[in-house]
Amino acid sequence: MSDHDRIERLKEMRDKAMLGGGDERIEQQHGKGKLTARERLDLLLDENTFVEQDMFVTHRATGFGMENQKILGDGVVTGYGKVNGRLVFVFSQDFTVFGGSLSESHAEKICKLMDTAMRVGAPVIGLNDSGGARIQEGVVSLGGYAEIFLRNTLASGVIPQISAVLGPCAGGAVYSPAITDFIIMARNTSYMFVTGPSVVKTVTHEDVTFEELGGADAHATTSGVAHFAVDNEVEALETVRKLLSFIPGNNREDPPRIDSDDPIDREEEDLDSLVPENPNKPYDMLDVIRRIVDHGDFFEVHKNYARNIIVGFARMDGRPLGIVANQPAHLAGVLDISSSLKGARFIRFCDAFNIPLITFVDVPGFLPGLEQEHGGIIKHGAKLLYAYCEATVPKLTVITRKAYGGAYDVMNSKHIRGDVNLAWPTAEIAVMGPKGAVEIIFRKEIAKGEDPGAVAERHAEEYREIFANPFIAAQRGYIDDIIEPRSTRRRLIEALMMLETKVDRNPPKKHGNIPL
Ligand code: HXC
Repeated sequence: MSDHDRIERLKEMRDKAMLGGGDERIEQQHGKGKLTARERLDLLLDENTFVEQDMFVTHRATGFGMENQKILGDGVVTGYGKVNGRLVFVFSQDFTVFGGSLSESHAEKICKLMDTAMRVGAPVIGLNDSGGARIQEGVVSLGGYAEIFLRNTLASGVIPQISAVLGPCAGGAVYSPAITDFIIMARNTSYMFVTGPSVVKTVTHEDVTFEELGGADAHATTSGVAHFAVDNEVEALETVRKLLSFIPGNNREDPPRIDSDDPIDREEEDLDSLVPENPNKPYDMLDVIRRIVDHGDFFEVHKNYARNIIVGFARMDGRPLGIVANQPAHLAGVLDISSSLKGARFIRFCDAFNIPLITFVDVPGFLPGLEQEHGGIIKHGAKLLYAYCEATVPKLTVITRKAYGGAYDVMNSKHIRGDVNLAWPTAEIAVMGPKGAVEIIFRKEIAKGEDPGAVAERHAEEYREIFANPFIAAQRGYIDDIIEPRSTRRRLIEALMMLETKVDRNPPKKHGNIPL
């Protein structure tokens, strides 16, 4: 064979590999409203940056006629490329090849990619679209999954891992995305569940559709498994790109800073009157956040799950930040099981990847009730507390209104290493709200009084005067300053600049024992 023929053969093989399962299956894929593995890579990566590896890998299975069905690439396209000019590693499962199912070879390709990403220090993006374990390979395929789970776990906190689920993801296969940092799901074309609707029907007699059981909205709203639910795959891949813009390539890098033309000292007059005079009236904490961050650009994570707490990314003076905020417009901003989990996970991500945290506090406390207590609010609330306590990134706090009880301690108080803790003049820092406090400490007097309502109100007024303000906390140095709300942006940026060289460490240990 001449050199020319050899090169021609290579080209032919490449063309064959590029077709995956073939034109008919590509059409079927499009017919389901899904893109192919390669079309997805084109949308995800900067133009002409993808470098493929292991294009000629095939499976090694025999039996069930498999020896006669070898398809180049074996159902997953792997390689590296750039997003906004920064290196990422990516695998994209190809449903047109054996339903994207995971064989030994398929798993090896993913593991090889993850091992390189770990050595290089760059994120791994997984585009998941798979029928699960390659049934014809049996336990070998299960072993392949376990190899991936191990790498997901070892990479956790070292390099960012993002999963876009763009098709089926069922059975044990869900546990790879579940260990990664963020899951993005596309509505109507993706689902995740441990057991599907037919098994559910047999076991629990419940009738559910794929979408109800494990669709994007089910996971982004109810279970909290997914961080983003979007309308289609194009949006899903844009979401991955946007997410990457806030995070570093690995845990030794700082997050990517950009030039910002939003003035550092921009004042927002509206903030001075944003908190309603009536302490029981809600307001939207997103209005506070958007007025303070660069160009009002807040990228909310877990938007529809546990809406009583807000988490997401933004920039100030071009520096990426993680924001955690109680949301008084939803359940009065109370902390419950779901909001504690949501906050804790986000805080740990930011801390692992050197992203400073800003916390906005307006919290009436933890949600009472049998459901919460029996659901384990003690251990779940403790996760949020633990996450704040162990975080060593710059940690800033702004108390806008209520900071009551244990929730005051939890929401990045000074006592748990808050670096700069500020309060608005509307802040109320106390063990509990005036009504509850008075009913406890003046119970006997109120019961005896001729007009219990008036007695209670008189004492509540006295309590409000003493505690429902930020001055006692300020006298103790528990907050560093009381600020005019309009100046919040400038004050936070000044604090971030001061903290730029912050170094803090936790005691050496194998790992802590977060109350799981
Ligand atoms: C081998 C598979 C496969 C699998 C699909 N295919 N899943 N081949 N192993 N796991 C093949 C089909 O045979 C078919 O091949 C092609 O992929 C497309 O599949 P269809 O069924 O035609 O597609 P669709 O109608 O869209 O249905 C998709 C599906 C269904 C719902 C995912 O294929 C399905 O139920 N697959 C099996 C899912 C499953 O039970 N997986 C094991 C889960 S347990 P042809 O040649 O006919 O086109 C698991 C454990 C992981 O994964 C454990 C980790 C610890």
